[in-house]
Amino acid sequence: MSPNNDPLFALKTRTWALHEALEKRLAFPDNFVSKTDYSQVLTLFYIFQRQLAFYTKIYQIQVTDQFLLPLRNRLPLIEQDMHQLAIPLVSMERFGTLKLHSLDEFYGCLYVSEGSTLGGKTIQTAMLEIHGESALDWTQYLNPYAQQMQPMWQSFRSALLDEIASGKVTIDGVVNGAEKTFQYMLDTASQLGLPARRTF
Ligand code: HEM
Repeated sequence: MSPNNDPLFALKTRTWALHEALEKRLAFPDNFVSKTDYSQVLTLFYIFQRQLAFYTKIYQIQVTDQFLLPLRNRLPLIEQDMHQLAIPLVSMERFGTLKLHSLDEFYGCLYVSEGSTLGGKTIQTAMLEIHGESALDWTQYLNPYAQQMQPMWQSFRSALLDEIASGKVTIDGVVNGAEKTFQYMLDTASQLGLPARRTF
């Protein structure tokens, strides 16, 4: 498949500016060094995973088994990381809600979560260098699949490609869901008061 008609290539290119904006907003590594700042980062990811879990309940019946959905639930991992660091779980009422309106948009949101394991693995490695090996205990969320990261990413991509090829969802709908999710994270970062830093 040439990049011109590869929907996954379109998904990546159409959402990359938002990825870059979020990456800048998170300001790695600056916001990942002190516990106070990293608490904000983890809280942001926690709010995101709570929204994803909410929509998983709504859409799971329509999701093909090929997605291995139960294996992709990262909420328990982030709760364990936060417990290790004694970070309180925020109450969701304080924050805006992500508004997804279709299975297509749900897949877009799931794409954002799954894609974040790619950068997450690199970030975990850096965290171990900054904080020492003990950081393995509280960075599980960043790298949920360990050695299985690539196979999990590839199986997610092929399941999504099949769902688009069969016409069950449209690429435009999936892109919309991913854009909404990235934007939700940017808005929530501001609401949390995550420090905006100049990293370069
Ligand atoms: C904070 C620092 C981050 C860094 C350094 C980072 C870095 C990366 C890298 C290296 C890739 C792989 C690109 C490739 O293989 O071509 C990637 C992919 C991706 N990241 Fe991030 N990332 C970060 C944060 C995030 C966050 C917070 C999210 C979402 C919550 C996210 C979502 C994605 C997605 C969806 C992809 C898949 C792109 C695709 O191939 O379709 N990233 N990221």
